[in-house]
Amino acid sequence: MPAPRTVLLTGAAGGLGTLMRELLPAYGYRLRLLDLRPIPGDPDAVVADMADEKAVRHAVQGVDAIIHLAGISQESTFARILRANIEGTHHLYEAAREAGVPRIVAASSNHAIGFTPRPHGPSPLPAASLIPTTAPHRPDTFYGLSKCFAEDLAQLYWDLHGLETVSLRIGSCFAEPTSVRMLSLWLSPADCARLLHAALTAEHVGHTVAHGSSANTRLWWDLSTARALGYAPQDDSEPYAAQLLAQEGELSDDNPAHTHVGGHYCTEPSRYED
Ligand code: NAI
Repeated sequence: MPAPRTVLLTGAAGGLGTLMRELLPAYGYRLRLLDLRPIPGDPDAVVADMADEKAVRHAVQGVDAIIHLAGISQESTFARILRANIEGTHHLYEAAREAGVPRIVAASSNHAIGFTPRPHGPSPLPAASLIPTTAPHRPDTFYGLSKCFAEDLAQLYWDLHGLETVSLRIGSCFAEPTSVRMLSLWLSPADCARLLHAALTAEHVGHTVAHGSSANTRLWWDLSTARALGYAPQDDSEPYAAQLLAQEGELSDDNPAHTHVGGHYCTEPSRYED
């Protein structure tokens, strides 16, 4: 598929959005930015709430593809998650369908399958022990549940309307891994840009769910679906392992926060209030 030229980047003021604003233009994209918050230095950025259906409809006009990062990115109240992540994502899909935007690349999360047991064994794990992208939804939070919804919404819009999506179950995308758990899930910013580019340009994706991590020695999940899109990760968290292990030690099944993919999200039921 020819590379889309103009791409709407939602959540552009966030951590990941800020990193991708810097890295994606090198792939030839012209980005239209959207966020709840203004973006310093970009007066053309769309300042809008995904819950505002009309504003979202306006924002998608004339774009060739959408990278959807906007939303609440951790656990919150069901009411807030409902508005920003569930209704907001629905508004985006409706707007894209109406405007004929052919593809969305959406940030899903490891927390959509957070209650999946952490795989065990010496690193690197054999392929048969890696968590497949067909692992059933096991959300660990309302946040994770909203990502399950978004994946199913993407499937619906593909089956019913022919709107393509790549749902990327991102592990942890930060400049560096900051915990032992993150050594398994880390997605370097440069690999994230590679993955987004692959997801935007691969042929015939229908609705594809892919895991988003670097080529970590301690990887827990299978990257073959992402690789089939053309993703060739270049980074590995292992150079950070010695220091993090010296601070924290190895993950242990005696610690409930270490037994499942979602980490401490699985052990701290929501105590948020509206
Ligand atoms: P972030 O919290 O730093 O950024 C999210 C951005 O979305 C913020 O700038 C916020 O203002 C904006 N936003 C929130 N609600 C909005 C609304 N109703 N309308 C418009 N904009 C809204 O999160 P981060 O880390 O940049 O994550 C981006 C996406 O990737 C999120 O969807 C998150 O769930 C997902 N993700 C991120 C991971 C990571 O390691 N950073 C891991 C897994 C998933």
